[in-house]
Amino acid sequence: MLVPGTKHAHSSRSDFGVTKQAHSRREFLTRAASAAALGHFGTTALSGVSASATPKHIARGRSATGEPIPYGAAVRADALAGDASYRAAIVSNCQFIVPEGEMKWPDVRPSRAEYRFEKADAIVDFARMNNIKVRGHTLAWYGGMPAWTDDIGSRAEAERELVTHIESIVGRYRGIIPSWDVVNEPIEDWPKAGKVLRPSIWTKHLGPDYLRIALRAAAGSDPSVQLVLNEYDIEFKGPRFAARRRALLELLRQLRDSGAPLHALGLQAHLFADREIDRDGLQSFLSDVKAMGLDILITELDVVDYELPGDVAERDALVAGTAGKFLQAVFEVVRPKAILTWGLSDRYTWVPTYFKRPDGMPNRPLPLDAEFKPKPLFAVIEEFRRNA
Ligand code: XIL
Repeated sequence: MLVPGTKHAHSSRSDFGVTKQAHSRREFLTRAASAAALGHFGTTALSGVSASATPKHIARGRSATGEPIPYGAAVRADALAGDASYRAAIVSNCQFIVPEGEMKWPDVRPSRAEYRFEKADAIVDFARMNNIKVRGHTLAWYGGMPAWTDDIGSRAEAERELVTHIESIVGRYRGIIPSWDVVNEPIEDWPKAGKVLRPSIWTKHLGPDYLRIALRAAAGSDPSVQLVLNEYDIEFKGPRFAARRRALLELLRQLRDSGAPLHALGLQAHLFADREIDRDGLQSFLSDVKAMGLDILITELDVVDYELPGDVAERDALVAGTAGKFLQAVFEVVRPKAILTWGLSDRYTWVPTYFKRPDGMPNRPLPLDAEFKPKPLFAVIEEFRRNA
């Protein structure tokens, strides 16, 4: 068992390093610090930034330095440990990775007394060995909480657990993880007046204060970290999605007015080919977010294909086209600081857990197929990040 505050001890051996060359912790920290200094993750503090109107324009995919937008993917520690082709695909395609579950509460806090970082450390070590950056995911979420957290019985206890948890994990990877999804999915599925925040163990005991508490704890544990609020179902046409955009904008404004530290909004972008992208609604929302001084990241892009035709070529084209429409709408307003997909290859995707195809065919939501060959979705992402 590891205890809170224990420093991350990098072993010189990685269980699944592709590159054999080991870097010392000092080297790694230096690299991380200079990446932060170069603004790779574009950290602009929200509080204190004056709002200005954002002209709509076709954003250029390259930065002033000519660098393509960094690309990354969610990874699984077990697959990294057991699948050499997967490791190779991650190393050759990703500038950064994010653990799909290994930094969530159930993995890190299986019981109240236990902090377990083996799998999270394995991912961080793999990244370090291969010169890849890591995003952290996630600290304050309603979902997937371990059963023991139901026993939290008071405001003071909830605040203590939340803050200690955040200090332990953000502190452990201080200088190593430059960007954290601090708050995940705070908005109700269909927010209504007076019922905007999604109920959780945190809203139960802390009300809306949980957002500020979490953001401050993360900022205090690593002042250089990019603090991200991450949300889904923001981009589509229809009253539920318009209500979600309104609620999210209002929440971001409240956080700014309360002086909470926040640097970026993460658009998860779990897209559906049969849902229309609301270009105008999304663009006006993004302009408002940008005018608040917040950066935009695309954090979990994939295209859910369970209702698409079985024909693979036709399906892949629809998946790529859907992502293209979304990226076009975003890029016309803002150049995202990063694009991540929720998985790299169709071999490892969360989609069938929730959206299995009725015809029994495997889902194809990601940029590489199950044999790690690039699909049309890969080309679309490349085009936008390199700005064809
Ligand atoms: C999902 C993982 O992919 C699954 O493996 C896990 O069982 C449940 O969570 N939005 C998020 C992610 O922010 O954390 C979710 O990840 C997918 C939806």
